[in-house]
Parts: sequence; C-alpha cells; structure tokens
Amino acid sequence: MLSWDDFDTQPQTSKRAFSGKQQKATEPRPTPETLQKEVTEPSASYASSAPASPAAQSSNSTGGSSTPPSSAVEAARAAVANLDPAPGLEELEMGAARIEVDEKRIINCRADLNQLVPFKYDWAWQKYLDGCANHWMPQEVNMNKDVSMWKDPEGLTADERRIVEYSLGYFSTADSLVANNLVLAIYRHITNPECRQYILRQSFEEAIHTHAYQYCVESLGMDEGEVFNMYREVPSVAKKAAWSLAHTSGISNPNFQTGTTEKDQELLRNLIAFYAVTEGIFFYCGFSQILSMGRRNKMTGVAEQFQYILRDESMHLNFGIDVINQIKLENPHLWTAEFQQEVTQMILEGMELEVAYARDTMPRGVLGMNANMMEEYLHFIANRRLVQLGLKEQFPGAQNPFPWMSEIMDLRKEKNFFETRVIEYQTGGALQW
Ligand SMILES: [Fe+2]
Ligand SMILES: [Fe+2]
Repeated sequence: MLSWDDFDTQPQTSKRAFSGKQQKATEPRPTPETLQKEVTEPSASYASSAPASPAAQSSNSTGGSSTPPSSAVEAARAAVANLDPAPGLEELEMGAARIEVDEKRIINCRADLNQLVPFKYDWAWQKYLDGCANHWMPQEVNMNKDVSMWKDPEGLTADERRIVEYSLGYFSTADSLVANNLVLAIYRHITNPECRQYILRQSFEEAIHTHAYQYCVESLGMDEGEVFNMYREVPSVAKKAAWSLAHTSGISNPNFQTGTTEKDQELLRNLIAFYAVTEGIFFYCGFSQILSMGRRNKMTGVAEQFQYILRDESMHLNFGIDVINQIKLENPHLWTAEFQQEVTQMILEGMELEVAYARDTMPRGVLGMNANMMEEYLHFIANRRLVQLGLKEQFPGAQNPFPWMSEIMDLRKEKNFFETRVIEYQTGGALQW
C-alpha cells in the first residue's frame, strides 16, 4: 500500500504500472532549470509591452520576486485583493459569527450552513458514521451460481423468474428516483449541515444500489431495455414510480422556497412520500420476495445484494422518520389535524399500490408466500409507518407473517461474510498507480 513517503521519495523512473489514461505522467519531466526559466521569464505578451529589466534577468536567486508581474498575474492579484470574504453571508443572520447549537434548525435555518459543528442532531451524524461503516460494493458479491441458475431452463420456475425481473425492473429505476429527489429537491431545503452530511452519504448509497441492480442485470444477461423501462411499461410498476414522481415535481422546481406554512407542508409531503412510502413501503414486497428466494438457496448473489441494500434502506427510512419528526417538533403549526389526515391517506395509498404490485407479481403462491400474506405484511408495515410518524394505526392487530425479515434487517457486521468482505475490501482498496 502506498504511503505519503512514497510520493516524496518515488524516483522519476518509477516502474509502477500506469494506465493508458495516465501515460502522460511518464513523459519527460521538466528539469529544475526549465522550471526556473518558466517562472522567471515573462510571458510573450508581457515581454512585448514591457521588456524585462536587468534586475529581472538576474533574479534566479530570488525566485522571481523582483520580476515585474505580467498583466495576467496583476489581474489575478487584483481579483484576490478585492475578494469578498463573506459572499452571500448577507443573506444569513448569523453568517459572520460562530454559530450556537440553539440556532440550528432542520428547515428555514438562517445560520451558517458551512459550520458542521457544534452538532445539534447527534442522531444524524451517528447515521452518517454508521452508513460509512456499512460501506460495500456490488462487485464484491459472487454472482456465478446465479448466472448458472438463471441460464438453466430448470433453474427457476416461471413465477420465480417473474419475481426477479419485476424486482430488478422496479428497483433499478426507483433508486434513481430517490437519488434525484435527494440531490435535486430535498438537499437545498434541509438547512442543517449534519443532516446534509447524511444526505450526501445516502445519495452515494443510492448510486451503489442502482449500480447493484445494473450489475445483476448485466451478470444475468437480461434485456436491459426491457428491465430499465418497466417503470414506464408495466402498470403495477409504473403506478408506484408515478406516485413518487408526483411528489417530487413541486419542490424540485428551482423557484420553490420554504418559509410559509403551505410550502413547508409541501416539503414535509415530499419527505413522507419518499422516506416513509417509497423507501418505507414500496421496497418491501420486492425485498421480501428476493430474500425469501435467497433463504431457499436460489439466486443467492442477487439476494445478498438485496440484503446489503435492505440494511442501507432501513437506515434511510429511520433517518427520514427522525427528520420528519424533528421538523414537526420545531414547527408544530404544520402538523394540523387536516394535514395528519392527508399523511395517513398517503401511507394508505402507498400500501394499496404495493398490494397491487404484490398481486401482479404473485398471481399464485410462490416461495412460501402469496399475495394475501403480503397484504397482511403490508398492513403491518403501514401500521408501523403511521405509528413512527405519530399517527393512529389503521389495521389494528395486523401481524407480521414474515418475522425473518426483521432478523435480516438487523444484520450485523460481525457476520462471517461481512468480516471476510471487509478484509478483502481493505486489501483491494490499496492504490495501484
Ligand atoms: Fe436505495
Ligand atoms: Fe434509500
């Protein structure tokens, strides 16, 4: 592994392998003499208007400090001298001062957003640390058994194949919708740096998830056009995507600003639509189907990818719930009885769409589950989302028919394959320049 010492002492005749793109680095390097010449000789344009003085011509020992500057250098110096040290800070009430914890707010905060500390929301920072500690990459999962099973006509039943195709079809697009909503809509309206730090981490995780689905599609040799267009062409998939998209259009408008009850409620609607419904309900039928497949020793590589993704997603969901509840706490006027009713309906709409998806993907019983069991599970999930948001359960007594899902979500890093992967990752992560 390279250390900083290598950069200081590496001879120019390094035998390290350079990639094609880095080949330029092996071209003859400038000698100290040529470098000195470049520094001390005025540019052609300057030389034509102001010949170098004798002092400048003998300036080698002074490093060029007495050389009259070129017009370009003068322009750069003037720009630096006139640089406003607080651009845009006039928009911030506390921008010029060190901020106090009490000034921090999740939305509509006018304190300096570049000052990460002192932390106010430790839970947000802790989730950022936990997300980093769970880092993984799709290529680390062995897909060989999946490829053999997928290509073997006897490997999976038609119903099982349908589940793999629908799952990759929905998720390959859904994670892009979530990522776009984070960076194009939510990020600029969340005015707290520790929450933004987590959103940046989450955004990268969404990119890894989209990568994982693409990696599965490529490994299995599936029709990419068909899979990536299911969100437009297959009704039960398209309706879920359309529901999410409908809740991002308002706040992704560049003219959208928070600060009024109406606009702040619109932001809350978006957070609930994406964190509590898209990531908190729409992912659960597909996840449980694929993980049930893995538990039956089928498509174990795809299932392992989904297992990692589910672990990330449960943290995204928990972060979103914490953000929503903190906004409610800081802005109680937003959480009116009417708005609570609206949010309850959003959760129920999400559940209905997911039940329709379950019926479409499971016309018959498969993998030890069926659409009715999934409906019961989604009632249980909807209850949990409502309670997490401080709302009343709509399906009293609903039970979880898939208790093993909770065990999978609680997956710990100490598990054997994680230990192996982490060690391999650190070795493979050594720089190869
Ligand atoms: Fe994701
Ligand atoms: Fe997510």
